[in-house]
Amino acid sequence: MIKINENYLKLKASYLFADIAKRVAAFQDANPDKEIIRLGIGDVTRALPKACIGAFHKAVDEMASDATFRGYGPEQGYPFLREIIAREDYQTRGADISPEEIFISDGAKCDTGNIQEIFSTDITVAIPDPVYPVYLDTNVMAGRTGHFNEGRYEGIIYLESTSENGFIPELPKKSVDLIYLCYPNNPTGATITKQQLADWVRYAIKNKALILYDAAYEAFIREDSLPRTIYEIEGAREVAIEFRSFSKTAGFTGTRCAFTVVPKTCRAYDRHGEKHAVLPLWNRRHATKFNGVSYPVQKAAEAVYSPDGKAQIKELTDYYMKNAQLILNNMTQLGYECTGGNNSPYIWINGKRDSWEFFDMLLNKAGVVCTPGAGFGKCGEGYIRISAFNSFENVQKAMERICRIAW
Ligand code: MLT
Repeated sequence: MIKINENYLKLKASYLFADIAKRVAAFQDANPDKEIIRLGIGDVTRALPKACIGAFHKAVDEMASDATFRGYGPEQGYPFLREIIAREDYQTRGADISPEEIFISDGAKCDTGNIQEIFSTDITVAIPDPVYPVYLDTNVMAGRTGHFNEGRYEGIIYLESTSENGFIPELPKKSVDLIYLCYPNNPTGATITKQQLADWVRYAIKNKALILYDAAYEAFIREDSLPRTIYEIEGAREVAIEFRSFSKTAGFTGTRCAFTVVPKTCRAYDRHGEKHAVLPLWNRRHATKFNGVSYPVQKAAEAVYSPDGKAQIKELTDYYMKNAQLILNNMTQLGYECTGGNNSPYIWINGKRDSWEFFDMLLNKAGVVCTPGAGFGKCGEGYIRISAFNSFENVQKAMERICRIAW
């Protein structure tokens, strides 16, 4: 008899953004003439930077000739991309990361979801609340939790991020083994200082824990004092894995390219307490289950680091940050407490009411899609998240419609 992985039965019926898409589709069916503005899922809307498109086309042309055609590439990514990432994203910032420590992939969602496979199922996992649902759901699938009870999975240590702690959770009171952190944060838009991040690194060293640091929104940081990578923090090479993505940085949500950094010195332990390097485990997993990102996509990603590419992605992220400012200003003027929007494309808004009720109200009265905070965890109840990823004109229109609602 074929048996299912019963851990899947513990999950909520569908993934948050699939749930939202269903509700929006039902609304559109019932109101075919209403124009909907989507500020829910953080999906980019602007074209790929010209530098990327040029490189992409050129690489496709190479595939059209036997002399320059490429078949399977290295699973870890082509050296040209790993080298430029190590230099531009890390070494120029004083972070000691080498090309062999970079693993190119098709998305930070997959990497943050898959990484837990290389760790034991009997570890204690600390996950922020609210949180990007992938971290939690993949640990549920792997069997690291009990059942879902009153908004929480048994066995998970929830790191509460609230307005009281500035959306930076306190260090866990008891020892945990695996810690998920994401800054600039999805969904709250909060940022972490070097000092605060150093506290987490020290905690991980002291407790023989490991930090999974999701820095997918790093390109939206505008304050120079904020850390752009966890490897700016002393000791992080031993205790942290970092995830980055070209999705939001360069408009690659539909093109797919990201990378994970696993330093050679990053360690974990076996059941006897013996130390092991994590890199060979991730390398083994990656090489067994993944066949690499396509050559043209990696060439397009490489172009992000060319002089033109750098200028174009700055222009692209500035564009979305202008949207973020507009959302932040309007929602603040309406009297809502907001966070994010300054170094992040997400604005986290305290609606002081049930977050699905707020979601429905914005959809029904303004035709605007947001993301209900409750979908990100218990601490998200009462909040909504508005994403800055859309055209400036649409964001302006959305804000005008929201301001017209009789509050
Ligand atoms: C979000 O809206 O939280 C993100 O777009 C989800 C993702 O990047 O997978």
